[in-house]
Amino acid sequence: MIELKEVNKYFDGLQVLGNLSFSVSRGKILCILGPSGCGKTTILRILAGLLPIDGGQVIQKEPIVSSYVFQEPRLLPWKTVKENINFVISHSSLAKDKRIDFYLQKTGLQEYANYYPHQLSGGMKQRVALVRAFVYEHQLLLMDEPFQGLDVKTRNLLLNQTHLLWKETQNTIVFVTHHVEEALLLGDEILLLSKKPAQVKRRISIGLPRKERNLQDPNFQKQYEGIVQSF
Ligand SMILES: Nc1ncnc2c1ncn2[C@@H]1O[C@H](COP(=O)(O)OP(=O)(O)OP(=O)(O)O)[C@@H](O)[C@H]1O
Ligand SMILES: [Mg+2]
Repeated sequence: MIELKEVNKYFDGLQVLGNLSFSVSRGKILCILGPSGCGKTTILRILAGLLPIDGGQVIQKEPIVSSYVFQEPRLLPWKTVKENINFVISHSSLAKDKRIDFYLQKTGLQEYANYYPHQLSGGMKQRVALVRAFVYEHQLLLMDEPFQGLDVKTRNLLLNQTHLLWKETQNTIVFVTHHVEEALLLGDEILLLSKKPAQVKRRISIGLPRKERNLQDPNFQKQYEGIVQSF
């Protein structure tokens, strides 16, 4: 769908990406793991077309509309849950309204549709941000450490809901995380980056169907430890 070829990026003389090459496959979830400051957010901004590059190429056959989930929910405090989601839709229609209701139901938010952000927990706010990103019509969903700062249980819930929503849309996701287990549970593939200037250390395919992925399983555990060691 989109490919970075020998991409270089500098900020004030500091090289952040060094001849970085990788491709994003359509309809798949690619998880990006890498040390703090190695350039993960920079990569997402390049994929979104928000940041120019200093060398190499970004190859895509056609224009791509991206949707973004940030680390923090970024909701409008004066709008309700439903209004915050509706806000990203340019022309409201009954069909779109139904789609929002469907997604709210899928994520267990329906009864909170008329709540304001200050009436929600952190996990619920991030769930609203997740639904909003899915509702916005896109081909590429970019997620930048979206569950950072949430407890393990809430993170797992949101991870499952991301997968649930992805199954509905079958769109392409690039998901940046610090958590190896998140990448292993969600991704079709994992891109392991070096410290900056970021390069691809390894690209790992996770063959196992998601419902069979269990961190207690010895084989899965082995894969987990292998990644942690080279991380
Ligand atoms: N707009 C900018 N101006 C100057 N330097 C920048 C800018 N954006 C990023 N950088 C630098 O580029 C490097 C990579 O930043 P980036 O935010 O992409 O890292 P990251 O991998 O997302 O880190 P983290 O895991 O902590 O979120 C850092 O050294 C950062 O200071
Ligand atoms: Mg970042």
